[in-house]
Amino acid sequence: MTIKRVEGIRYGVEDMPECIEFLEHWGLEKLESGDTGAEFKTPENQTISLRLKTDPVLPPTNEDGPTAREITWGVDTKEALNQLGRELATDREVTDNGSEGLQTQDDSGNYFALRLADIKEDHQLEPQMNFHERITRTNERHWPDEKVRPLRIGHVVYSLPEEGNWEAAQFYMDRLNFLLSDRSTDGGTFMRCDGSNFHHSLFLFHRQGTHRYFNHVAFELNSFDQMMFGGTHMQAHGAVSVSGPGRHSLGSNWFWYFNNPCGGDIEYFADMDRLDENWEPGFWDESPPYARWLLGDDILKG
Ligand SMILES: [Fe+2]
Repeated sequence: MTIKRVEGIRYGVEDMPECIEFLEHWGLEKLESGDTGAEFKTPENQTISLRLKTDPVLPPTNEDGPTAREITWGVDTKEALNQLGRELATDREVTDNGSEGLQTQDDSGNYFALRLADIKEDHQLEPQMNFHERITRTNERHWPDEKVRPLRIGHVVYSLPEEGNWEAAQFYMDRLNFLLSDRSTDGGTFMRCDGSNFHHSLFLFHRQGTHRYFNHVAFELNSFDQMMFGGTHMQAHGAVSVSGPGRHSLGSNWFWYFNNPCGGDIEYFADMDRLDENWEPGFWDESPPYARWLLGDDILKG
C-alpha cells in the first residue's frame, strides 16, 4: 500500500487569463483552457487544474482569495486505493468522485483526494559538468537550453497554526503511511510519501503561521541553470520573487519562490536530498538556518 507522489492539484482562481499565462511561462504543458477553467500537466503526468474560485465543483476553502482547493495523492494500486478509502471512512466522509478520485479532508480541514497514480516516465538529459579532473564535456561549449521544463511536482506545503501542528502531521503518518524526514519544534514537519524518495512530499509549516492556508507547490528542474533561466524568465514577465534563489538547509535543495496568481507561492527547485530506509529523521527545537546561502534576504512566510 503505497502513495507515490502528488498526483494533482486543483486551484480556485480569480483571474483565469492571468493564471493561464503564468503557468505557461512557468513551463507547463497546457492541455485545454477556456473562460472558466484550464488543465495543465507535467511531463510525468501530474495534473494542474484551474477553476474559478466560485465553481461549485471545487471543495470549500477557509481562504478568501485564490488558493489550492485540493491536493490529490497518487496511489500505486486499485486495492491500496480502496483500502485507504475504507480506512479513512471509519471517521470521516469519503466521497467517490470517479475520475477525481476519493475525496476527503485531513485533520486540519484541508481537502485532499486519492486516485490511482498514472505516472509517465520522462528522462531529461543530465547536465554535463566539468569539475577539477572529473571531465564530462570536452571540446563542447556549455550553453544550456533556455527553455525551462519542470519535470514534476515534488511537494506541497501548508501553513498551519502552531498549536496542534504535530497532531496534524501525525494524520499523514498514521493514516496515509507518510514517513517522517525532519522536524523542528519552531518550524514544522517534513514528510515524504512512503513510495517517494524525495526529502519531502509534504511540509506542514508553522514558523510564523497563526492561521491555516496553502503555502506553496514546488516543481523540480534538472539543474541550477534551469532554475536560474526559469526564475529570470518569470521575473522578466512580471512575476514577483518572494524568496531566493538560494539553497535550503532541510532538504538541501536549491530554491526560488514566486507569488502564484493561482494561489499561494510556487517554487522551482533542484538537487533535493533523496532518502531511503536508512535515513534517520532530524529533530530540532530550533530549526537549522532557512538557507545555506540566499540572494537577498527574503524568507518565505510561514
Ligand atoms: Fe518548497
